[in-house]
Amino acid sequence: PFMTTLDRRMDLARKLKEKYKLQDFFIIRGDADENLELQQALPKLMAEELQKMLFEGAIVSVAGGSTMANVGNHLKPVEEHVLFVPARGGLGEEIINQANSIASRLATATGGEHKVLYAPDSVGENVFESLKSEPSVMEVAELNKQSHYVIHGIGEAFMMAHRRNVSSETLLELEEKEAVGEAFGYYFNADGDIVRKVRTIGLQLEDLETKRAILAVAGGSSKKEAVGAYMKIAPKNTMLFIDETIAQFLLDSK
Ligand code: G3H
Repeated sequence: PFMTTLDRRMDLARKLKEKYKLQDFFIIRGDADENLELQQALPKLMAEELQKMLFEGAIVSVAGGSTMANVGNHLKPVEEHVLFVPARGGLGEEIINQANSIASRLATATGGEHKVLYAPDSVGENVFESLKSEPSVMEVAELNKQSHYVIHGIGEAFMMAHRRNVSSETLLELEEKEAVGEAFGYYFNADGDIVRKVRTIGLQLEDLETKRAILAVAGGSSKKEAVGAYMKIAPKNTMLFIDETIAQFLLDSK
């Protein structure tokens, strides 16, 4: 029977939900690596869903990345008081792609508030311990524990490592451990094992399970293995925003 592209994507989403048992799947057409319009469509869809979920007093933990940086272009003002909290400190990314900047943009777009995490994420043990006891840093750490939602991107491991100018030792380590994906500073392999985690003051992996929802976004065939691996660690309360290319890959993979 003839299926429209929307039917096909809804059918894909239904099958993926059955297979992976996650909260929901949102699928845009095509392969986001192919054009700019599709790249914009994903953060737009995520923004629209998030918009519906906001409520008085909602706290949203926000991660970094170029996809996340576009979410703010599509959020509209809300009546309710909402708070955006950076999930991570500085990870060596361009300022506009850092969680702090994105949290601030989302607050501007919705008329909400935001916090700033004044801490780089890759510091030595001593600095890390003393930063952790800074009141403003502790406040953000606490808010990340209490937040209702987490929104984040999923990246291809080496693309992210290069973009963050990691050391050659780290690069070697990622190669040896066969990292394929990255999300909020955690690098993981195809089995979904965390192979490297940056010691962070921000959101911790174990905080995810108690959230009302985790909104994760990734598009483009270059990210399909990364998303495939992420499926092995994705908490049940995940809402995944992907394109058709990744969706088909997830459906076909074991
Ligand atoms: O932390 C970054 C994300 O994992 C992916 O970043 O949206 O720029 O590809 P991206």
